[in-house]
Amino acid sequence: MQSPNNLTSTGIRKPGTTEERLRIEHLLSPTALLETELTLGSDIVSGLSESPKSLPPRYFYDDRGSMLFERICELPEYYLTRTEAAILRRCAGEIAELTGECEIAELGSGSSTKTRIILDAYSELGCPLRYLPIDVSAGILESSARELLADYPSLEVHGLVSTYELALSKLTPSPLAARMICFLGSTLGNLNRQECDVFFSQIAGALQAGDFFLLGIDLHKSKEVLEPAYSDAQGVTSEFNLNMLRHLNWRFEGNFDTSQFEHWAFYNEVQRQIEMHLRSLGEQTVYLRALDLSVELGAGETILTEISRKFDLDEMQEYLEGRGLVPVRVWTDPQRWFGVLLCQRLS
Ligand code: AVJ
Repeated sequence: MQSPNNLTSTGIRKPGTTEERLRIEHLLSPTALLETELTLGSDIVSGLSESPKSLPPRYFYDDRGSMLFERICELPEYYLTRTEAAILRRCAGEIAELTGECEIAELGSGSSTKTRIILDAYSELGCPLRYLPIDVSAGILESSARELLADYPSLEVHGLVSTYELALSKLTPSPLAARMICFLGSTLGNLNRQECDVFFSQIAGALQAGDFFLLGIDLHKSKEVLEPAYSDAQGVTSEFNLNMLRHLNWRFEGNFDTSQFEHWAFYNEVQRQIEMHLRSLGEQTVYLRALDLSVELGAGETILTEISRKFDLDEMQEYLEGRGLVPVRVWTDPQRWFGVLLCQRLS
């Protein structure tokens, strides 16, 4: 006979079925989702009406966009993913020792390669494994959760279908001794300074005293390395960038002609950020029917689709400390291209 919490008389957790170990909670109900700006597109209207024009990077990630991003991660020029994974492989054991038993919360449940490196480290220490992925895409969240559950027989997954912001405001204390919120892949680079400030106060607010925050950031380096990472020889990044227009076409009944735009990315050394644009090849008018939005573009005019900021490891430590997220340890690769920071909220 198995007790309800799956503990045997010796207190060892017995593996339950996948269904027993999986819980997915929708903080955004399917109807509420329909009403968010994601489908409403108010951010598109404002971005395309301003000068210079811009579009929010989150519109990269429809199914095709997510697939193209996975291909970017494999490109020889795109060093970020593999450099971060190499650092994690070296430091995951230390992270687990420093935090002890904790629930692993992750913002964005993307590729589970990094999650596995971390789970393996906690598993080796004999810690209970609890994973809390947070993602707006219910599909990606559930499929990656099921893959992990199949490979980790004692893992429990509690997924939140939600925006980061909403999930961070609703987190209840972890059932384990602590929680570690992970924000990897330098997604932070997509936020400008002001958005960054807001984001970190949400993180600090979501952590209980003693909880941890694990951050992966891309570091400033020469543009000879940076620019090819965002303008690869095979043109995958160009496809990824242009795909945003296709995405807007189907979602908002638009008529963007992708052959009338070109990909353009460069490193702004003053702002220390990659800026990715779509450049209009000629004078054109585009119409998005669902938004009743008409957009005029001049020949050579650009739309900013993404900033990808490159950070300084020491500056970031100071910044985090100032926001109540005290750096516990920091790791980097031999070339100092990428950084991983473990922080703790002390009180
Ligand atoms: C997922 C935001 C970290 O900025 O490097 C990759 C996205 N854009 N190639 C990045 C991206 C172009 C990526 N982040």
